[in-house]
Amino acid sequence: MKNNADSHATSDISRCHIINLSHIGHPYGTLTVAQNSGELPFAIRRVFYIYDIPTDSLRGGHSHHKEQQLIIAAAGCFDVTVDDGTSKQTYTLRRPYEALYVPAGIWRSMHGFSAGSVCLTLSSTDYDETDYVRRYDKFLELKSIKRQ
Ligand code: TYD
Repeated sequence: MKNNADSHATSDISRCHIINLSHIGHPYGTLTVAQNSGELPFAIRRVFYIYDIPTDSLRGGHSHHKEQQLIIAAAGCFDVTVDDGTSKQTYTLRRPYEALYVPAGIWRSMHGFSAGSVCLTLSSTDYDETDYVRRYDKFLELKSIKRQ
């Protein structure tokens, strides 16, 4: 588990940031593009999206050993709270060209969904349940490695 411990030991929320994807205005709608041309922090491997979200939903609630993500409000708006075990910060995503970068080793929760919102995630990896840390006490245990 040495590599697994490493991402949690070295990640903190200062690495989370908003990336403004390019957007091209048009009288009949705006177009946004995300592509693997060097402007993103990782190469996109997988795309998934959540929709039909009840407004009182809490999504996320986990960290990853290796997976990096860009989280986008493709429709509507919602909040993303990122947590490194010491500090937390909440970002409100409300424009489809704003992508929140979340590196590995960061606990994230999505909440405050507006009606009709769509949470689009660009991921650096294939889906792998063993990459998830779903228990907060386990997350804190992994984080404590850097405090020893
Ligand atoms: P999860 O990542 O926990 O959702 P969120 O963080 O948005 O709340 O995934 C929810 C369920 O979907 C879980 O059973 C795993 C499954 N899943 C896949 O099968 N493939 C995927 O690519 C993803 C992201 C999730």
